[in-house]
Amino acid sequence: MRKEIAEQPEVVARTLSGRLEPRFQTTHLGGIELAAHELLDIRRVKILGCGSAYIAGAIGAHLIEQLARLPAHAEPASEFRYRNPVIERDTLYIAVSQSGETFDTLAAVQEVKRKGGRVLGIVNVVGSTIARECGRGIYLHAGPEIAVVSTKTFTCTAVAFALLAIHLGRIRDLSTAAGGRLLTALAILPGQIDGIIAREAEVARLAERLALCEHAYFVGRSAGYAVAMEGALKLKEVSYLHAEAYSAAELKHGPLALISPETPTIAVIPRDALYPKNLSTIEEIRARRGPVFAVTHAGEVLATADAMFDVPRSEPELDPILLNIPLQLLAYHVALKRGCDIDKPRNLAKSVTVE
Ligand code: F6R
Repeated sequence: MRKEIAEQPEVVARTLSGRLEPRFQTTHLGGIELAAHELLDIRRVKILGCGSAYIAGAIGAHLIEQLARLPAHAEPASEFRYRNPVIERDTLYIAVSQSGETFDTLAAVQEVKRKGGRVLGIVNVVGSTIARECGRGIYLHAGPEIAVVSTKTFTCTAVAFALLAIHLGRIRDLSTAAGGRLLTALAILPGQIDGIIAREAEVARLAERLALCEHAYFVGRSAGYAVAMEGALKLKEVSYLHAEAYSAAELKHGPLALISPETPTIAVIPRDALYPKNLSTIEEIRARRGPVFAVTHAGEVLATADAMFDVPRSEPELDPILLNIPLQLLAYHVALKRGCDIDKPRNLAKSVTVE
């Protein structure tokens, strides 16, 4: 897991390679095999995947909605076919899978295709069943992922969604200036990820405190909520610590009852328009004497939280990609301190090829 976390600067550069097109401030995605006029006909995007692939899809939905102004929504592929879904001609369906062999995701793709829907894949393993079933898509080029939990492919999937969102956006209303600023930000992403990984010791110190707990909560808003979901999933998978993610906005509608001095909260707080709202969430948690670890951009949080990890800023739409990296390291170090079998967590398989 640690090796694959450390590979991220290199593999993100591979996902980006040959796909940035500064001449038109857009991206080049040869494998999607849909002409501009076909992409223009799309009115909605539905993203399907399981586990971390679904959560990366939630980040993708946010990117597509923000940059292309298309309604976009991610749904667990494992639920999709059981509700006799309505398949629409002007919806683009996107299947996300690292292995390309996840049974539930494959079955969702087949359900879409059986009903005449158009689906493209965001897949890591070249020539895998889902890649072939989709017939078109974006390969991650992240190389083999051996550890059971996904880390580098989660990040590369989010980057692939950023490329697609810029592509869809530039066909619509995303300006050349906005396209240009996102391309510049993508190009420096590998170096920024490298900078975060170089500060692993800081995260390990946070992990020492967390490793002693039995429950932890992750909160965030908007795309930050998806980052919180992935942080909680990673922590529970490798360290067996009970971790749940809540939308920071939903906290006072129930989960706040769980907060106590024994239950730390990891708060994902980008410095965006929701920053003041996130600060007041932290205050609510602190008022119940809950310890708060903030993963954030430098600012006032410093005074409010018990501990913080400062993440370099990107363009706001891309910030979730960087905010996730310290949470991967956190899960790894908590698991290490708890003596867990990190690369092969109990009860889990790398590829879930059965229903
Ligand atoms: C989480 C994890 C799983 C997978 C899920 C989908 O760390 O590894 O949740 O993301 O089983 O697998 P793929 O992406 O191969 O379809």
